Amino acid sequence: MKNADQNKQTAEGGDNGVLRIKNLTKRFGAHLVLESISLGIEKGKTTVVIGPSGCGKTVLIKHLIVLLRPSSGEVYFKGRRIDNLREQELNEVRMHYGFLFQGGALFDSLNVFENIIFPIRQHFRINDWKVVEDLVKSKLSMVGLDGFQNYYPANLSGGQRKRVALARAIALNPEVILYDEPTTGLDPIRADIINELVLKLRRELGITTVVVTHDMKSAYKIADRIIMLHRGRLVADGDAEHIRNHPHPVVQQFINGQVSDEDLAALRMSGTVSQTQFMPRDFAK
Ligand SMILES: Nc1ncnc2c1ncn2[C@@H]1O[C@H](COP(=O)(O)OP(=O)(O)OP(=O)(O)O)[C@@H](O)[C@H]1O
Ligand SMILES: [Mg+2]
Repeated sequence: MKNADQNKQTAEGGDNGVLRIKNLTKRFGAHLVLESISLGIEKGKTTVVIGPSGCGKTVLIKHLIVLLRPSSGEVYFKGRRIDNLREQELNEVRMHYGFLFQGGALFDSLNVFENIIFPIRQHFRINDWKVVEDLVKSKLSMVGLDGFQNYYPANLSGGQRKRVALARAIALNPEVILYDEPTTGLDPIRADIINELVLKLRRELGITTVVVTHDMKSAYKIADRIIMLHRGRLVADGDAEHIRNHPHPVVQQFINGQVSDEDLAALRMSGTVSQTQFMPRDFAK
């Protein structure tokens, strides 16, 4: 589907949505971040969320796992309303999710093994350590880090840390995985390793995936569907081709990395650069 009809379907949430958001509005004080968003996330597909910095991408996916509660609107996981559950009930629901949040750091004081089993320990009392060891081995193997169990995060590269965080995110065989900027800060090759892993997880485990990214190369590579947020609303929704050819100037500016006139005005770039330069003698006056 490559036309505006898809937006209509999205607005209704779609019937086979594992995750559904209905009329989600989120305010922080007077600041309206998301305005009446409706969205269905399809099972087994990879949905990529794009949009300018500060437009509400992280806020949106935090609602999918109810790390934030809506100001109004509803969130459903497999048909069950979850935005109004108590923390304890939510913890059970969250067992079905893996998530890798922006700056989603590993625990520095724990080694790779302990980091990966952290979510398991949160939910279960471990009796059979052999099973857990096998699990950690298999997850590390899946992310290409065989034998790294005893490393501490400080001794890993940025890309390796992201991969350990990914191994942790898949520790409990989630049905849904949410990634917030998984490739940010990585060089193009390491970023592509993460892309390949996202594809592999979807292919081999059929995981429903939602990825927030700024990186259009990653988006085109991994997405079954791309949605773009702008000023609290969905401005585009479709496959890579639909987004590439989207008529909305905001979409074209974003995917081509161009600054809009409006943004330039906001940055007050009209002043000359020399007006913003200070010399050491200026401080001494
Ligand atoms: N807990 C909070 N309290 C108040 N304001 C918040 C909170 N979380 C987010 N915001 C505001 O909501 C807006 C959207 O933030 P969000 O983190 O979702 O942006 P983003 O699209 O993920 O940006 P980036 O691409 O830079 O990560 C921002 O203006 C931010 O300041
Ligand atoms: Mg963000």
